[in-house]
Amino acid sequence: MSEPLTSLVPRPALVLPASDGFPLDLTTALDATPELAEVAIWLRGTLGPAVGCPFPPGPGGIRLRVDPALPVEGYAVDIRPAGVDLHGGSAAGVFYGVQTLRQLLPPATLRRARVGHGPWTLPGGRIEDAPRFGWRGVMLDVARHFMPVADVLRLIDLIAFHKLNVLHLHLTDDQGWRLEVPGWPRLTSVGAWRPATMLGSRQHERYDTRPHGGFYSDDDLREIVAFAAARHVTVVPEVDMPGHMQAAIAAYPELGNGYAGPVRSSWGISRHVLNLGPAALDFCFAVLDHLCDLFPGELIGIGGDECPVDEWQDSPIAQARIRDEGLAAPERLQSWFTARLAGHLAERGRRVFGWDEILAGGAPPGAVIAAWRGAGPAAHAARAGHTVVSCPDTSVYLDYRQSDDPAEPTPVGTRLTLADVYAFDPVPSGLTPEQAALILGGQANLWTEHMESARRVDYQAFPRLCAFAETVWGPAERDFAAFSSRLPVHLSRLDALGVNYRPPTGPRPWDGRPDAPGHPRTVEDRLAELREMTADLDQAPA
Ligand code: ACM
Repeated sequence: MSEPLTSLVPRPALVLPASDGFPLDLTTALDATPELAEVAIWLRGTLGPAVGCPFPPGPGGIRLRVDPALPVEGYAVDIRPAGVDLHGGSAAGVFYGVQTLRQLLPPATLRRARVGHGPWTLPGGRIEDAPRFGWRGVMLDVARHFMPVADVLRLIDLIAFHKLNVLHLHLTDDQGWRLEVPGWPRLTSVGAWRPATMLGSRQHERYDTRPHGGFYSDDDLREIVAFAAARHVTVVPEVDMPGHMQAAIAAYPELGNGYAGPVRSSWGISRHVLNLGPAALDFCFAVLDHLCDLFPGELIGIGGDECPVDEWQDSPIAQARIRDEGLAAPERLQSWFTARLAGHLAERGRRVFGWDEILAGGAPPGAVIAAWRGAGPAAHAARAGHTVVSCPDTSVYLDYRQSDDPAEPTPVGTRLTLADVYAFDPVPSGLTPEQAALILGGQANLWTEHMESARRVDYQAFPRLCAFAETVWGPAERDFAAFSSRLPVHLSRLDALGVNYRPPTGPRPWDGRPDAPGHPRTVEDRLAELREMTADLDQAPA
């Protein structure tokens, strides 16, 4: 039993089927060099229980090697009756090759325990494969709804199964603070908890009056980082500043501009922002230092989106800063602040990762821009010489509704069908080749206002994340009909993995959330809004 070489998601670059495959049995050996020890451990732990094979070390079975002549995340695999030869440009490439082998076996082998006795056969042939982009990301918002560690680890496994390699973890927002920071205990004793939660879109003013909250200990975050690293996923943490800070200000009102109240229970953007005085800046540096201690990656997310300046107009602390720094207007305070954060991170060998609002007034050199407000900011950032991660809401915000069916759970945003996500291209049109080379890749974003559980995250993410994986892994030329013909077998893989994906026929009756009504938007309305929101970029240096 095996799956055809042509059933893979994401689609590989080159497939050459051959007639005879390689039978796996209880004695199949695994031959890996020491640099691939972690891939071998993962393979044994992942495939072993379902196939019933311990993969003892030795020759004659599956042979894993690094071949630096291959693209760094690429791999080539030859499957013949005598054995499997899998070469990767690095351990990551070998890892992706093994993910491919998993998809070439029947879905039953994706389960955590044995449900059949085989025989399992890897189909004969050769596959050569490498990703189009180096940044193949997913953002998970654990602030709007807290996700237990086990659920985050499970999502990382699913991300890696689709050959995605970045988990951008949105750790704080107005509605909750989710990490410990030494010396600031009220962030988690107060800032991690809200008294109630809005149900559905703001327009309806409905609430679930049960408190909600939670936070990750340092060891929780270390576990997430290490689990991800073993799957070649980099975790990029984000603490959103200077706006989206109501939870921190609820814990420490002295960081704000007079707000003294609870963590926010409703959705939308809070007007309560950091005052950016000396104490607030020291707080931000303490947070960044702790992020640098916990997360080894070069990029540290500082957020920077949607920061209203209303409070700064009247705040003595903010006004003193504006005066002392000779800033022309409150609007300039944020770019001054972003530059301070970038300088602080640079001293630790790290770089800023921020939403495209940080382009206003000029983003710090070396900043990586997460371009989200439609397709325009990615092009703007690349023209300004910044490296860019494309995540336009109009293509890859997976909280947006999947169809016009009113039974979709909490239908918000514009309609983003599977085909719409599949049509995404991270590289906006009109760039020179040099500018296009600054596009690191793409990222699908999971904002969780309306995803209260891992089950709901599954529903919103899948199968659209499978389509997204092809947009960032596969070649630029794509064929939705061909993808659709591979989807049924891939959905049976998701079944075996226990994923609550949206069925192609639409939501099941129990997927609906009549208690949490949405607010669907038209694309035309959203595009008009985005033009207004990004008008300031026209004044920013490019
Ligand atoms: C965002 O969606 N506010 C980045």
